[in-house]
Amino acid sequence: MSQDDHIQAANADDSPVTEKTLRLSPEREAYIDDLQKRYPTKLATLLPVLWAIQEQTGWVSKEWMEYAAQRCECPASHVLGVVTFYTMYHQKPAGKYHVQVCRNISCHLRGAPGIIEAVEKKLGLEHKCVSADGKFSLEHVECLAGCSWAPVMQINRTLHEELTPEQAVRILDELE
Ligand code: FES
Repeated sequence: MSQDDHIQAANADDSPVTEKTLRLSPEREAYIDDLQKRYPTKLATLLPVLWAIQEQTGWVSKEWMEYAAQRCECPASHVLGVVTFYTMYHQKPAGKYHVQVCRNISCHLRGAPGIIEAVEKKLGLEHKCVSADGKFSLEHVECLAGCSWAPVMQINRTLHEELTPEQAVRILDELE
């Protein structure tokens, strides 16, 4: 589905969500209130607003995109464009351990294809899939800003550097 199709689909069955319908935790609402005082436009805070949503819910649903649009005073289609552009935002629930393996040039040249193959085999998952028990989700990503330590894999917020396929599998084995 193209980006335009996504936007049309989102707009086609948009049921308006009032700001009262969804609320972040008081701490996160206060954080956003404070942030929005420090920027010239509310739109400038869209990325941290989406991040706060994902921290609370684990992903960014269509209803929460509508919330973000209201909070940042922009069209829902703009929020959708941002969420679908950045791989760090999940458009469906991720696993307890969200595994991202970099496939971009530095990592590719230093063995990423072997890491990806080993991780896929270990988890029994392909790109953008979640395990049936919800423990793991897997995503190939374009760059994790760890090019100097390629090849890299990130699990939730922890970056694992200079990996071999064997090390990658061992790290996954150690997760509860
Ligand atoms: S290319 Fe892999 S972290 Fe940048």
